[in-house]
Amino acid sequence: MISKSSPIGVFDSGVGGISVLRVLKHDMPNEDYIFLGDSINAPYGEKSEERIKEMCDSNINFLFEHGAKAIVIACNTATSAAATYLREKYPETIIVGMEPAVKPAVDKAETAYPHVLVLATSATIHGERLHHLIGRFSENADIHAVAAPGIVPLVESGKENSRDLLDYLKDLLKPFRKTEDGGEGKLVDSVVLGCTHFPFAMKKIREALGYDVTFYDGAYGTSRETRRRLKEAELLNDRKSEGSIRLFSTAKGEDPTALADRLLNLPFDYSPEN
Ligand code: DGL
Repeated sequence: MISKSSPIGVFDSGVGGISVLRVLKHDMPNEDYIFLGDSINAPYGEKSEERIKEMCDSNINFLFEHGAKAIVIACNTATSAAATYLREKYPETIIVGMEPAVKPAVDKAETAYPHVLVLATSATIHGERLHHLIGRFSENADIHAVAAPGIVPLVESGKENSRDLLDYLKDLLKPFRKTEDGGEGKLVDSVVLGCTHFPFAMKKIREALGYDVTFYDGAYGTSRETRRRLKEAELLNDRKSEGSIRLFSTAKGEDPTALADRLLNLPFDYSPEN
């Protein structure tokens, strides 16, 4: 039986979901969390919808076995491919997913017709959900959706600050870059981080672009929605003390959760308006 004191279950295809977990933890510090990173199967972004559904099902069952009172799909790709399926299969469970923060990027822009760059995995970029989402805002903004499949493997191997990542991004983002020799592509006002691994690559994305942009991260909306759903179901933990976080990973090796733990403890600027 679940209760107010049961943990919140969070999963991702790997360590990216840590960028969501840290926002949840900031917003609801007294909750307990169980996090599962399915790193052995990452990246999800290059897999079929059917396969992503199967993997999500197995992740959710792991979190149920650990007594989760609600599930946060801390993965845009998994949300896009499997959220509807999972909600139909587990209608009694609170299941909150991710949505690339296109709405805040358009609504909060300082210019009337902002240029917005949406970066996500190939599966999210080609999925129906993002297509519809962009369609809702395309009258009010110039929105470019670009698949960035090379970021996830580099973050998964702990190279979120590497030269390899910078070189990859410089090449990928060529059409939007301001180059050292004064060359200019199409400059954007903001970047929507449409994959939960990407907040860890933020510094390198800015460096590759060569100018300052505002970043939008869907984790804030997901966290607010999780809180709202738990409150509505009277399942918010009412203890006063700080809760715990238990990290699990399907990765092999001596210390499979070491990377998740390191990312969770990186300095983090909380931006509530995103
Ligand atoms: N972190 C996931 C997301 O938000 C995807 C990474 C992957 O391709 O596995 O989309």
